[in-house]
Amino acid sequence: MTERTALILDVDTGIDDSLALLYAAGSPDAELVAVTCVSGNIDARQVAVNSRAILELAGRPDIEVALGREVPLIRALETTPETHGPQGLGHAELPPPSQPLSERHAVDLILDEARRRPGEIMLVTLGPLTNLALAVMREPSLPRLLKGYTLMGGAFGVSGNTTPTTEWNIHCDPEAAAIVFRAWGSAMAADPSIARPVALGLDVTERARILPDDVVRLARRAGSTPDDSIALARGEDPMLAARSVASRPIVRYVADALRFYMEFHARYDGFYGAFIHDPLAVAAALDRGLVTTEPLYVDVETRGELTDGMTVADRRRLTGKPPNLDVAVSADIPVFLDRLVERIGGLAADHPDVSR
Ligand code: RIB
Ligand code: CA
Repeated sequence: MTERTALILDVDTGIDDSLALLYAAGSPDAELVAVTCVSGNIDARQVAVNSRAILELAGRPDIEVALGREVPLIRALETTPETHGPQGLGHAELPPPSQPLSERHAVDLILDEARRRPGEIMLVTLGPLTNLALAVMREPSLPRLLKGYTLMGGAFGVSGNTTPTTEWNIHCDPEAAAIVFRAWGSAMAADPSIARPVALGLDVTERARILPDDVVRLARRAGSTPDDSIALARGEDPMLAARSVASRPIVRYVADALRFYMEFHARYDGFYGAFIHDPLAVAAALDRGLVTTEPLYVDVETRGELTDGMTVADRRRLTGKPPNLDVAVSADIPVFLDRLVERIGGLAADHPDVSR
């Protein structure tokens, strides 16, 4: 029996968050405990709709989904429909979810579950850290109550993707990120047995590129037909691409969502493919061996004119402050992509063929 890691995913479901949800749902070594929602790529209420719809597509309507903070701690809400589409799922359209939202607020859910299952839960944040900042302010011992914490966020030795120095998740709520990083630092100073959070920044997540051929591999793993129905434009004029008619619903979703994301990356990053930041973070939360890390002291700029939201990593130990994050410096991307194809393709294979 595969040992399973209990996960709570805090998401701003968008396209790569949705792939992370599908990855977790298709992972035999994951126990998906709950999903909590925060504003980021899209507003939190739409995140909650998207997340429930994705979980139902994955055959997991039983997973509790809770709404969290709808605006950053002090800054104005900013979303990115140009990156993830007006509803956050690219060109894909899913039936509205049938399951209701949890009656618990996301922060209550995180604290309740951590207290109920001390030392068992791996928290993974895939969006801004607003919910986690509120949780750790309410419960400073949260780092000790969790089994661990993995985040997608930051740019530690590379350029940002939102400003020259800043990555999106941190950009949206730098104060929240600073609170979280400092809270873990304080907790670890008091209790050295607490594991440092594992931070996957753009340094590694921008090496996790999915290409059209990977989607075809996933369709074939799913037994979806015809696989040329992926209708990914493969660099041709994306306007020529049609909606996917793949027979497996999950494959249709992945193709239609990723086509929007690939069109975005073709415009802004010069390749027809997509950085799949969030699934890599979930994969690393399930298998720490996928990444190599460096213990670093990291703080967040919250007052900079040019560097606002920058994750400032003290690589030369100039501050004298002890490391508070394990920052990922490399990742085994081929193994990750194979697992993504196997786990999401396998999940899709479990769904019946349906005609368009
Ligand atoms: O910068 C990439 C991150 O911002 C990803 O989590 C993406 O989903 C967006 O939230
Ligand atoms: Ca995200």
